[in-house]
Amino acid sequence: MELTVIGTGYVGLVSGTCFAELGNRVTCVDKDASKIEKLNQGIIPIYEPGLTELVQKNSTERRLFFTTDIISSVQKAEVVFIAVGTPPLPNGEANLQFIEQAARDIAIAMNGYKIIVTKSTVPVGTNEKIKGIISEITNHSFDVVSVPEFLREGSAVHDTFHPDRVIIGAEKIDAGEKIASLHRPLTEQIVMTDLRSAEMIKYASNAFLATKISFINEIANICEKVGADVTLVARGMGYDQRIGSSFLQAGIGYGGSCFPKDTHALIQIAGNVEYDFKLLKSVVEVNQLQRFNVIRQLRDTLGSLNGKMIGIWGLAFKPNTDDVRESPALEIVAYLLQQGAKVKVYDPVAMENFRYECNHESIIWCSNAIEASVDCDALCLLTEWSEFKTIELLQIEQVMRQAVLIDGRNVFSKEEIERTNFTYYSVGRPIMNRIQTKMVTKA
Ligand code: UDX
Repeated sequence: MELTVIGTGYVGLVSGTCFAELGNRVTCVDKDASKIEKLNQGIIPIYEPGLTELVQKNSTERRLFFTTDIISSVQKAEVVFIAVGTPPLPNGEANLQFIEQAARDIAIAMNGYKIIVTKSTVPVGTNEKIKGIISEITNHSFDVVSVPEFLREGSAVHDTFHPDRVIIGAEKIDAGEKIASLHRPLTEQIVMTDLRSAEMIKYASNAFLATKISFINEIANICEKVGADVTLVARGMGYDQRIGSSFLQAGIGYGGSCFPKDTHALIQIAGNVEYDFKLLKSVVEVNQLQRFNVIRQLRDTLGSLNGKMIGIWGLAFKPNTDDVRESPALEIVAYLLQQGAKVKVYDPVAMENFRYECNHESIIWCSNAIEASVDCDALCLLTEWSEFKTIELLQIEQVMRQAVLIDGRNVFSKEEIERTNFTYYSVGRPIMNRIQTKMVTKA
């Protein structure tokens, strides 16, 4: 099939590339000329495992093209995907400015029947709005289909090739069926719905996953007080097929470009129809508070943070991505700086993005994990990059001023910690926590 994808962010770039790999001819369009120039040279603007190789392969095999020319890209396509961003407005609502612009651009370029597929996460009713915008501008016939995207950053290529399901919201069976045929090589699990239900499925799914995370984080907070271990509790719960084991990892809360944005947007969507989504409001509040457990533990151990040197391992909102959007590390580091602490930071790939968001004279940018722990009064692990799991903690202990480790992602085992002299805190595992009475402060 001849496809055009508007928007070369995570969703557009990954799905466009994967459709090309499946044998379609795909043109990806973006207004950002420098981004397109780089993509045409095989340079990928985001860190996403496996994506560079796939883009280069499909570009070389002439199935994948990048351009800023929206008119000719739309004109040659049978199916046009809209995959532009829907960033949050100050009130939490999704900003539809880029979606609406894409709809107008498509309408102006129309030269015959096309199917317009919305991949972006959009509030209920938006696909109908898109239909309205296009039909005001053109007399050519078209159908609008909603296919929400569920890929995760860090495993986006894998998720696109192995989706748990594909949701296809359509008003007309033929249009829905054509889009279904495009996705059949990926999965048999295709759910056909109306437009509004498809839009709602995306928000409900993200809100439910965010709820699971806040739920287990609250259970972790209770575990700390009653002396239970949240990792065992989560394992025991997860074997119940009605619950499932995924998204039950306690930690310092969720971040990223989706959960924070989509939970706020759904609260707003509900509010717009005078429904007070109490449960989801609490999910957001719990998530906001969870990251401050790190600060509380630092304070309990070190007292005043003024003048202390704190090491930070991990800045990305999760491993295998360079994305720092809504990363707990942003708020934790900002708070430490505000308290007068000096902060040494290290992340395998997210340093540049973090520096862009948070550049401060008291931040020391380190080139590896060990360097980020030298002379520190405490070390905080905020992202569970696999390289942190393999570091010899005894070596780290030697180079720190005080051996204090706050493990915000429950990375280390009891045995590993017991081999060291660390004062150690993790999340919801009070049995693991060790407060060394004889804390040795090196000169
Ligand atoms: C999410 C959805 O999973 C995906 O379907 C949607 O398309 C976009 O939003 P993503 O934001 O890339 O994907 O990452 P995800 O792996 O879902 O993690 C989100 C956040 O939750 C991360 O900050 C992660 O650290 C946190 N998380 C996840 C937990 O704290 N505990 C868990 O058990 C799982």
